[in-house]
Amino acid sequence: MNRAVRFEKYGDVDVLRVADVDRPAPGANQVLVRVKAAGINPGEAAIREGAMAAQWPTTFPSGQGSDLAGVIEEVGDAVKNFKVGDEIIGFTNNRASQADLVVVDADHLVRRPAHVSWEQAGALFVAGTTAYAAVRAVSLRAGDTVIVSGAAGGVGSIAVQLAKMAGAKVMGLAGAENHAWLADHGVIPIAYGDGVADRITAVAGNKIDAFIDTFGGGYVDLALQLGVAPDRIDTIIDFAAAAKHGVKTEGNGAAASAEVLGKLADLIETGRLEIPIAKVYPLAAVREAYRDLAHRHTHGKIVLVP
Ligand SMILES: NC(=O)c1ccc[n+]([C@@H]2O[C@H](COP(=O)([O-])OP(=O)(O)OC[C@H]3O[C@@H](n4cnc5c(N)ncnc54)[C@H](OP(=O)(O)O)[C@@H]3O)[C@@H](O)[C@H]2O)c1
Repeated sequence: MNRAVRFEKYGDVDVLRVADVDRPAPGANQVLVRVKAAGINPGEAAIREGAMAAQWPTTFPSGQGSDLAGVIEEVGDAVKNFKVGDEIIGFTNNRASQADLVVVDADHLVRRPAHVSWEQAGALFVAGTTAYAAVRAVSLRAGDTVIVSGAAGGVGSIAVQLAKMAGAKVMGLAGAENHAWLADHGVIPIAYGDGVADRITAVAGNKIDAFIDTFGGGYVDLALQLGVAPDRIDTIIDFAAAAKHGVKTEGNGAAASAEVLGKLADLIETGRLEIPIAKVYPLAAVREAYRDLAHRHTHGKIVLVP
């Protein structure tokens, strides 16, 4: 049996269903992976709702999902570096990872290190590479102060840890329930909402060097108001503000490679990076999983397990 998430038209979570589909066959440079875990991301919801139809049109029926981790079940004739039984972390650009079986290009895979849980592995690709790109975009040096909005979310929780590794003083905007996790990871928690600029300057004074925005809704303006130079502001969501003010928009597309995935997996393996897993849902509960994500208060990642 091969179950896969499908939708036949744009719409809310109710257009999603788990269908029985044919077993896919890998091409010469591909492998077939039995999925152990597949992360979910807000961008997939935006695609499903039709909000990205101009940039990234959908052909129906559509599958869903990029992030995956699992075990190789078949290899294509030309694949030399992986074999049946290998445990891998990977990604697909074909909106297909939320399934029992997925065909993946062999150059979109890395081996799963022994201490990286299936859930963390399956949730790593989109959020991890996006955080990696965003932190790289703002060129942190030791002693810099950086602010991250959405600091405990899927992308933000990884970005704050990578920013710490770069030697920066990191301030994270988050809800009160996430402040302890941030403090435990060496991040100064700041409550968002009215008065946020005053709370930031009370801690950082006027020395704010960089800003990573993973939430949108005015944080690019706040960063400029705090005196951050446009080329040290990166937003992964507010493209209108970026176009207006000339700030950066480096995200998943700027770091979407097996090489970066491998670096992040190594950081997890060696205990330097944590991917908080907010909740694990069975594949059959895909609608509930995206309903949960839509609240925009996920701490870390939500994962589907076939
Ligand atoms: N451009 C790209 O390549 C790219 C890639 C990945 C994601 N994205 C986009 O980036 C955004 C974040 O993705 P994600 O996966 O990290 O989402 P997520 O896991 O749903 O995280 C949302 C975060 O937003 C925080 N938040 C809620 N209200 C806030 C407010 N008023 N001010 C500041 N933070 C607030 C939440 O914090 P609390 O729980 O602490 O309230 C939560 O941590 C999404 O819009 C997504 O589409 C873009």
